[in-house]
This record gives sequence, structure tokens and C-alpha cells, in this order.
Amino acid sequence: MCGIVGYIGHRDAYPIIIKGLERLEYRGYDSAGIVLFDGKDTNLAKTKGKVEDLKNKSNTTISIDGKLGLGHTRWATHGVPNDVNSHPHYSNSGDLVIIHNGIIENYESIKKALIKRGYVFHSDTDTEVLVNLIEEVKKQEGVKLGKAVQIALNQVVGAYAIAVFDKNKSDEIVVARLGSPLAIGIGENEYFIASDASPFIEFTNNAVYLEDEEMAIVRLGKEIKLRKIKDDAIAYPNILELQMNLEEIEKGGYDHFMLKEIYEQPRAILDTYRGRLLADQGLIKMAGIDQNLEKFLNANRIIIVACGTSWHAGLVAEYIFEDLARIPVEVEYASEFRYRNPVITENDVLIAISQSGETADTLAAIKMAKERGAFVFGVCNVVGSSIARETDAGAYTHAGPEIGVASTKAFTTQITVLTLIALKLAKEKGSISESKYHEFLVELEGIPAKVEKTLASNALLEDIAEVYKDSSNCLYLGRGYNFPVALEGALKLKEISYIHAEGYPAAEMKHGPIALIDEEMPVVVIATRRGHYEKVVSNIQEIKSRSGKIIAVVTEGDVQVTELADHVVEVPETSEPLTPLLTTIPLQLLSYHIALMRGCNVDQPRNLAKSVTVE
Ligand code: AGP
Repeated sequence: MCGIVGYIGHRDAYPIIIKGLERLEYRGYDSAGIVLFDGKDTNLAKTKGKVEDLKNKSNTTISIDGKLGLGHTRWATHGVPNDVNSHPHYSNSGDLVIIHNGIIENYESIKKALIKRGYVFHSDTDTEVLVNLIEEVKKQEGVKLGKAVQIALNQVVGAYAIAVFDKNKSDEIVVARLGSPLAIGIGENEYFIASDASPFIEFTNNAVYLEDEEMAIVRLGKEIKLRKIKDDAIAYPNILELQMNLEEIEKGGYDHFMLKEIYEQPRAILDTYRGRLLADQGLIKMAGIDQNLEKFLNANRIIIVACGTSWHAGLVAEYIFEDLARIPVEVEYASEFRYRNPVITENDVLIAISQSGETADTLAAIKMAKERGAFVFGVCNVVGSSIARETDAGAYTHAGPEIGVASTKAFTTQITVLTLIALKLAKEKGSISESKYHEFLVELEGIPAKVEKTLASNALLEDIAEVYKDSSNCLYLGRGYNFPVALEGALKLKEISYIHAEGYPAAEMKHGPIALIDEEMPVVVIATRRGHYEKVVSNIQEIKSRSGKIIAVVTEGDVQVTELADHVVEVPETSEPLTPLLTTIPLQLLSYHIALMRGCNVDQPRNLAKSVTVE
């Protein structure tokens, strides 16, 4: 997820774009860049780091006052964060300049074709390929920029919000979107372009939000011309008068980043499997696995190291890998693993899971495992992070920046990546049937829609939160694939509401925790239809007979648990290994609402940091 900003009008573009980038830094902050155009020359500055670094660099590299400009703050998906990979990008001729938020999945094949036609590339990005494709189309078809953009975008697969201009046409910027947001601010003889309205809300509250597969020619002194990318049909701009304030806009209209990120999960999961899960072809494409397949297939065992929520994702992976791929898995707290002198051999594969890619204990565990000969694979959310650079190979989650300290979309996208790996290995090993494999691919492809449906229980979770917001303790129970979800639900509650909560395997209750059960103790039980359901029903009856209050997460249409529980939240039916992607959603929402009702700082809970870069 990146931030894009553009301006064309009567003012100096530089201050508008720089301030706009500062407001969009929550969308991505590993590198930034700006280009100004004064009608004759362009000046471009870009750098790894934050917008502050860009300001320092551009003070010495930009010497023109352009009334047209583009700016970009990056969340890397292709190409590590560095100066060269930062946006904006020039086309080979230097006439076209582009900024892009999104992922072009088929950029490699396009790049190969352009190289054959003599194009040279300076960066590793998909964006530089796109701007040269537009240039090639413009040359070959002899068309203007707008038409060239339209033809080129019909050749790409992926997601994009782009702004591009041609130095030979100083009064227009062409924009287009598919899957990534793009807003056009409409001022008096000036236009603003941005990922959301925060960069221009102080200048105008009149805006047009492009719909998917729409593009626009933004020309000074003219009305915005909208058209459909696919069929050139004219679209009519729906000009909105925005009432939101700046802070609301940065949070996408949500009250907190955590809630925004909970609701981003359908898109985050989709972005994470985009280009990797090709269900109709029965394929899973993951370069990091494809290039190291033998290591995984011949591994004695897989050791998973992580901390916190990422450790819970590792536990889910243990169940999936062993159940489907029949590969022995051990899940270790990185902080324990690094100090207990573990037995590690070159026949071990270590998977390190980390949202930030900077967790000190996880990084140390990786280094130790490498020293002892293990092959190390990383699952990170930050491209170019320390862990991503330290591992031998890896697969990124494409969740976009996770700002809320409580990890939500990172958890579900980590599970998505790990599920893809497990399914790929299971297919290679023949440990699941072809039909089962295809069933899983189709089911995984449908998960974003089922997460969307689960999010509809938000109001119900708010009502339940009202009942239990003053509890002192809470127990979370789950079995099988949902035991790690019970742990995760408990962590969410305790870290943002400060209520003591514990997750347990449901069967463990009678080995101690049942002594805690009384009418003051809410017990969250995950009781999906396919997860040892009858056993969980017995556990619920044990709790009920001791006056415990039961909040049950069940499969939609459930009857038996619904009759027993005090509160029931339904999730759509899915295959058992994929249930954690759904059952975790109500638990995220429950903890969010309880914390809010207790007046806690949901996005920055006390004593916590987003990335634990110290021991
Ligand atoms: C999760 O909600 C917490 N914020 C914390 O447990 C976190 O998961 C843990 O610190 C690991 O962080 P990482 O994924 O960035 O390595």
C-alpha cells in the first residue's frame, strides 16, 4: 500500500506534494520521491527513508518551481526499498513520468518483451515496466498519453492507482485505478490527485473518487474526462462534497487504525494470494518456495520461530503442515529458542514469521539457525526489513502497513501465506488427493468474501462487549486448528483492554482452569462444525453447569451450541484448516469494542510498541 499525490494548477506544486506525502505516510514509509515540471524541465528527487529524508534531499536536488508535480511514499512490494526503486519513475525517453500504488502481477513477461525491443531498466520495480509499456504503446500506436495508458492497462494484470504525465503536454495528468484508491480534488483552476483526500482537504472538499477500472484525463481549464479502461465508455464524475476531517481521512473514515485494519482483511488476504493462488489452473506460484522446493520436501522437520501474534500464526501453520503436508513441525518462541541451545541440523528448515521484520528475538533466532546450517525462510510484511534480508528466501504478506499495535491483518495474511506453502508442499508430496487440493484452492480463493460476511457481526460483537467490558478475567477455548485462535483472541483482549485473558485447548479445562469458572467468568469458545464439535459441546456443558457465561463462535446455521451459549456469533462454513481465517475476526472485534468501552488507547496500548526491536 503506497501513498500517491499529484498537483496541477496555479500554485507551486512542491509544498503541496510534500505536505500531502506527510499525510499519507501511514500508507507506507520505506521510501519517497517527488518530481516537478515547469512546462519545460523536470526535476526529480527520491530516496530510501521517510518524507523528512526526501525534504532534505530535494532541497539540494530540486531547483525549479513547477506548477505540476507528482509525489509518492512507498510500501515496497517489488524491489527492496532504496533510492532507485523509489517512485516516481521515468520512461526510457524521459518524456513520461509515473507514480503507482499497487502490484502488476505480469510485469516480468512485459519487461522481457520490452527488453527485446531495446528498453533498459534501472530499477527492480513493476512500476518502471508499466511506464515503459505506456511509452511503447504511445510510440507504436501513435496515440496521445490518455489512449496509450488505456491500451497499456488492458495488457496488465494486477492492482494499480497511477498518475502519469508527458513532458510534451504540460497541462494534463492521466490517472487510472483498479483495486487501489484514487481521489481527484477539484479546486479553482487546479486539480489534486491522491490516494485519499488528506493531501487536499485544506484546499477543497470537492472530490471525485475513481471507481475500479476507471481512468481520467485531468486537464487544466477543462472538466475532468472519465472513461472506462476496458471499453472506453464515458463515465460521469460523481463530485462529492467531503465533510470528513483530516484525521478521519487518514483512518479511512474509521475511528481507529485497528478497526480499519480489521476491515482491510478481505483485501489484504486477496492481495496476499494475488498472483500466487491460481485456482482455475490448479497452481500455487511462490518463487521463494519454487526455487527451494527440495529443501522443504527433504526437510527432517520445519521449525517455526516467532513472537506474539506471529507465533500464533505459526501454531496454526503447525496444524496445517502436519495435517496436509505430513511434514513434522515444531513451533518455538524465538526468545526461548535462541537461548536453549537447540539441536539444529542442515536438514532443518526454519520459517521465521514477523509482521515488522524487525523483532529482535526472531532475528537472533534466525542468525543462530543459519550458523547451525538450517535453511531459513521468512514470512514478513515489510519488504527489505532486517528479517527479510537475513533469511535465505521468503514470501511477503501483502497486508500493507499495519499501524495499530494490536496485530490483526498481519495474522490472517500470515496464515494465508503459510496455507499456500502447506498446500503447495502437500501437492508436491501427494499427501492430499488432487480433488482435495483443488477444493482447498477454490475455498481459499473464496475466503475474502467470507471474511467480509463475518465482519457483518460487528454490531453484535459491540453488544456483547457491552455486557463483559467490566470483567476482570476471560477464558478463550478452542480445539485443533482453533486452539491457536483461542490464544490469539486472548492476546488481543489483554493487550488492548488490559483484562486478564487466557487461551486454552478446550480439553485442558478439566486439568485446572475449570476451577476458575463461575458466573463472573466469560468464556469464549470456538465451536465450528468441523472442529471436534461434539467434544467442544461437552466442554460448553461443563462450563454451563458451573454458571460460566459462554460466548460461542459457531458455524452459521448451528443449533446445538446456539441453544447452550449465552451469546452466539456465526461465521460462514469453510474447510477446517481455513476456519482460523474466519473465527479470529469476531475475537478481534470483541477485543476492540471492549477496549474502547474501557477508555483504552486502542491503537497505542500502554507499555507496548508496534515492533519489539529490543530483547
Ligand atoms: C500482537 O498483537 C502484538 N502486537 C505482538 O505480540 C506482535 O505480534 C509481536 O511483537 C511480534 O511482532 P512481529 O510480528 O512484528 O515480529
